[in-house]
Amino acid sequence: MHNIQVADKAFELLLENDNIAKRTRLIGIQINLDYENRCPIFIGVLNGSFLFMADLLKEINISCEIGFVKVSSYKGTESSGTIKQTFGLPEDLHNRDVIIVEDIVDTGFTLKYILSEVYKQNPASVKVCSLLLKPTALQTPIDELEYVGFEIANEFVVGYGLDYDGLGRNLIDIYRAKTVAPNLP
Ligand code: XMP
Ligand code: MG
Repeated sequence: MHNIQVADKAFELLLENDNIAKRTRLIGIQINLDYENRCPIFIGVLNGSFLFMADLLKEINISCEIGFVKVSSYKGTESSGTIKQTFGLPEDLHNRDVIIVEDIVDTGFTLKYILSEVYKQNPASVKVCSLLLKPTALQTPIDELEYVGFEIANEFVVGYGLDYDGLGRNLIDIYRAKTVAPNLP
């Protein structure tokens, strides 16, 4: 299905699951090479990363640990840039190689906040793996952004973990919001 409705919004297909799976496999191969003999800890950012995290970790064949963190921020289609708190960050990251796994990097403020919390524990290294990146929306440089699945335009997307007001996370493909044609006189 190329056109779908989620709540009150119309969406159209952007990335098919096959395409996501192929890209995820390649990222997994790269991480296996980069972290050979290092036992990294993957930290998925909930809720959006739950499917990507699961599919990515199926491709990882090196010794590793897995954890999740939850960040509370404001709701809606606009990224607020205001972050409240993180929950569940592992407390033993000292000297560890950390890989933060995100669904999407938009303004980058969420990631900056998580990175600052992780660095407080003096890890050996920190890299970020994000399925999606909106380069034109990024408002703060993120040197740790090492693995990116797809760069997309600055449009709202849903599916494969990403939600529109809580709905659509279970869709296996990724869809973008349709732009409404302006009413011409
Ligand atoms: P920032 O702006 O802090 O935002 O990089 C990152 C978080 O905002 C959410 N986000 C989206 N969620 N479709 C979504 O479903 C989008 O297009 C989108 N853009 C940002 C997401 O939770 C991400 O972790
Ligand atoms: Mg998220």
